[in-house]
Amino acid sequence: MSQTLIKNIGLLVTNNSEVDSTPLGLIENAAILIESGKVKWVGASESSPGAEKSIDASGKCVIPGFVDSHNHLIFAGDRSKEFAARMAGQKYEAGGIAYTVELTRKASDGDLLSNAGRLQHEALHSGTTTIEIKSGYGLTVKDEVRSLSIAKQLTTETTFLGAHVVPSEYKGKAEDYVDLVCGQMLSEIKPHAKWIDVFCDRGAFTTEQARKILKAGIAAGLQPRLHANQLEQGDGIALGVELDAASVDHVSHFNQSDIEKLARSKTVATLLPGAEFSTRSTYPDARKLIDAGVTVALAADCNPGSSYTTNMPLMIALAVREMFMTPEQAVWSATKGGAQALRRSDVGHLTVGATADFVILKESSYIHLAYRPGVNLIDEVWQHGAKI
Ligand code: NIG
Ligand code: FE
Repeated sequence: MSQTLIKNIGLLVTNNSEVDSTPLGLIENAAILIESGKVKWVGASESSPGAEKSIDASGKCVIPGFVDSHNHLIFAGDRSKEFAARMAGQKYEAGGIAYTVELTRKASDGDLLSNAGRLQHEALHSGTTTIEIKSGYGLTVKDEVRSLSIAKQLTTETTFLGAHVVPSEYKGKAEDYVDLVCGQMLSEIKPHAKWIDVFCDRGAFTTEQARKILKAGIAAGLQPRLHANQLEQGDGIALGVELDAASVDHVSHFNQSDIEKLARSKTVATLLPGAEFSTRSTYPDARKLIDAGVTVALAADCNPGSSYTTNMPLMIALAVREMFMTPEQAVWSATKGGAQALRRSDVGHLTVGATADFVILKESSYIHLAYRPGVNLIDEVWQHGAKI
């Protein structure tokens, strides 16, 4: 069986806290042995086993590949004019989604796949080796099925977001649309989705509607996650915890009771600083969540409206600068935190048996991801044990 040794790693982030009793599990002057796409051995470079092939990391830092647990890649067109208007003073509202829905419905399958593929390629080359992709710009049975069947060609982490907003043809008939989502739409998308999500917020769906939709999804065998409290304080976080959602996402607004509920649960709080950046909104205080014992993930939320970026290093830089995370916390949240938000134990860390997904940085420390914002620090990306 072919083995590859990555040796002379100046600093290795394993995310295995048994290594050094810290969440990042750091090893200096390290090596990793890869076999059949998995990590076979991890340790000090000087005691590394021999291998047919070896790669010299030249003292650079190696981290697990980013696990980006929240993205909307199946869409057509862009909303650059809406962004410019916002930067000139307009407010972000959920309603802008309708414009993308219109363009997405008109697009061909080939155009949707090539746009999503382009964005996935962009993400991979900036270090994202696991990506989640949602539907949500189709909002008819046919368009949600095709969105998810396209997403499924790109990732196993596919999420049904038929409840993104109430489409214009159901204006004033939100309950009828909720019934469609819970009924025919859910039963037809089922073969293509692993997760079910609802945008539970002002201008989208109420907590009661979200509960109904998520429960229908769970009964159909999908696992719940939730867009909650992006635009205002609400009951979305409490609902996510009540339903044991893998993750509640955005959580730009939260109160003490939300923090306590999250801290006692397995539900991850996924923060999306790209959305605060691109909607010029107040960033949530991640440190408050982490200090209370909440598990925090970071994701890019790539979508044409509120965060048109696939760049996880940017999320790390924003989380450190604007959300009061330390570089250590941000790197963990963008890797193992993301894996926990997808309830995956095979990715997001570099421990024996894990998938060999990792990034060789151009620098000797992961701190540079926050310290050198906007600079491409990705030297090599390895996915399933192979250099991409
Ligand atoms: O996660 N919040 C809801 N959905 C997206 C925004 C979608 C859009 O504006 O097109 C988000 O930010
Ligand atoms: Fe989103």
